[in-house]
Amino acid sequence: MDTCLATRTYAPSALMHIRPYRVLSIEDGREEEVKFFMPPADGAGSLTAFESVMLLKLVRAINPDFVFEFGTFDGRTTRLVLEDLPDNGDSEPRIYTLDLPDTDGIVFQGDDKLLAEKAVLSSRKYNQSPKKAMVRQILQDSMAFDPSPYAGKFDFIFVDANHEYEYVKRDTENSLKMLGGDSSCIVWHDYGNPQFPELTRYLEELAGSLELYHIEGTMLVFHMRGATIGDERTAE
Ligand SMILES: C[S@@+](CC[C@H](N)C(=O)[O-])C[C@H]1O[C@@H](n2cnc3c(N)ncnc32)[C@H](O)[C@@H]1O
Repeated sequence: MDTCLATRTYAPSALMHIRPYRVLSIEDGREEEVKFFMPPADGAGSLTAFESVMLLKLVRAINPDFVFEFGTFDGRTTRLVLEDLPDNGDSEPRIYTLDLPDTDGIVFQGDDKLLAEKAVLSSRKYNQSPKKAMVRQILQDSMAFDPSPYAGKFDFIFVDANHEYEYVKRDTENSLKMLGGDSSCIVWHDYGNPQFPELTRYLEELAGSLELYHIEGTMLVFHMRGATIGDERTAE
């Protein structure tokens, strides 16, 4: 495995590495203003501030009716997306977020067990939002999750739960079953994270059959349908 985020050298793969401006230049009809939240000091388990901005931009590009998140952790990213979601007149929950009820019998890699133990005790930040009724928390091992009631329901899905190969594969296959809408997007976190080489390998393999983009300077990879990323700038 010769993938390394620090040196920006990656294994040969069909996965495309793009500069952030190509995401920022997707037209979304929104104003520049964003309600943002300070990242945690240790950063463990959360997106970086820059990754949060990139994720929000992708959410805005899709303007989803329904969002699914694999891996709630402390609900920081759930809250960020929740606060930025424009009202569509719907009063039912629009963000579904899944995490473990406990850590019994789960296979973990890297810091995942530590994070899961914290997550189980978390009061979750989206609960601080006046829009919290728009969030439905699901407490279940994602390996046991049945996507069939949700076939085609979600136009934006964020895969950021267990990073072990079989879990990422299962969460991805379930995401593809739940993805729907005229425009839609799946985003994965932790691509290139040295703690999770299996996730990186999985995405590099997946890129052979699914169009995947990695945003340089982040550990985000995405697959997008019905929206087009900005053109590459060419030298004058
Ligand atoms: C990296 S954190 C998620 C961070 C969150 N998406 C954010 O941006 O703030 C990973 C989460 O996945 C959860 N997790 C780990 N294994 C899981 C499993 N098998 N099923 C469901 N959730 C799992 C952990 O409890 C942890 O809260």
